Amino acid sequence: MSKNSKHFLEISQLTPEFVMQLILRAIYFKTEDEYPRYSKNILANLFYENSTRTRVSFELAARHLGISCINLDLQSSSEKKGEIAEDTLQTLAAMGVNLFVVRHQQSEFSKKLVNFLVNDEHIINAGDGVNSHPSQAMLDVMTIFEVKPNLEKLKIAIVGDILHSRVANSLQSLFSLLGVENLFFVAPKIWHPKEINHGYFTTSLEEGLANADVIITLRVQKERILQDEMFDVQTYCKLYSITSKTIKYAKSDVMVMHPGPINRGIEIASDVADGSHSYILKQVKNGVFMRMAIIESLITS
Ligand code: NCD
Repeated sequence: MSKNSKHFLEISQLTPEFVMQLILRAIYFKTEDEYPRYSKNILANLFYENSTRTRVSFELAARHLGISCINLDLQSSSEKKGEIAEDTLQTLAAMGVNLFVVRHQQSEFSKKLVNFLVNDEHIINAGDGVNSHPSQAMLDVMTIFEVKPNLEKLKIAIVGDILHSRVANSLQSLFSLLGVENLFFVAPKIWHPKEINHGYFTTSLEEGLANADVIITLRVQKERILQDEMFDVQTYCKLYSITSKTIKYAKSDVMVMHPGPINRGIEIASDVADGSHSYILKQVKNGVFMRMAIIESLITS
């Protein structure tokens, strides 16, 4: 069970048993044509940052479960008129919204919003700054589990802009929770985080990928990189790009993953992204089922 199952905010609130429960429920949804209906609920997507796949994925997850979904265009809504997020939340709650999916550029934003809830509403963190993105980590682990269920035994390499990646943070917590010891982070030194809680860091792609079962590539997040954290993109491509040549360091059945959106030809070559090792679209597909499992766990707890 989750330690605090009213909201879905961080991997740290989960237990290994609850993670497995969500994965199995998501896999079950994937095999079914009909789903339970929770039509008394209303979900609002509050995205203060752009998103396509995560937002649409939550919307489809809600619809599959018979839940109405509202998408707020926060660029043109009352946010522009100076309304603060707390007021938006309380206004929507007064109209019956009880599930809020929140993405914001500020770390811990979803957690702060919890203090402004009036009744029994639930908050799901869909990405807060560089802090965390727990539903993405969950769908990534689901995707791995379906193909290589022996998670503890795997070597997993996460390659790219670790310093600015909320996905990498959540994956680090989740792999630690699930006992994945052979976790490697590969990036130029300047993109290594200051604090390392779990896993090994290396600047060598060859070392990181050697005998890997899974490669998770991350987007070079130009919008988050500060002046003093710059690393030349051309050099990055040369040293760290996942190509048909570099995946040869890994196992012959290596899974190549990416949370998207991808920069083709930068962190990943097109032929790998579209090739037989790629699980990128499977991740996207699994995202809907995993989010169904997450939403259901909150409203039925
Ligand atoms: C990630 C995000 O927004 O944090 N993408 C996603 O949710 N699918 C990663 C990224 O932006 O690179």
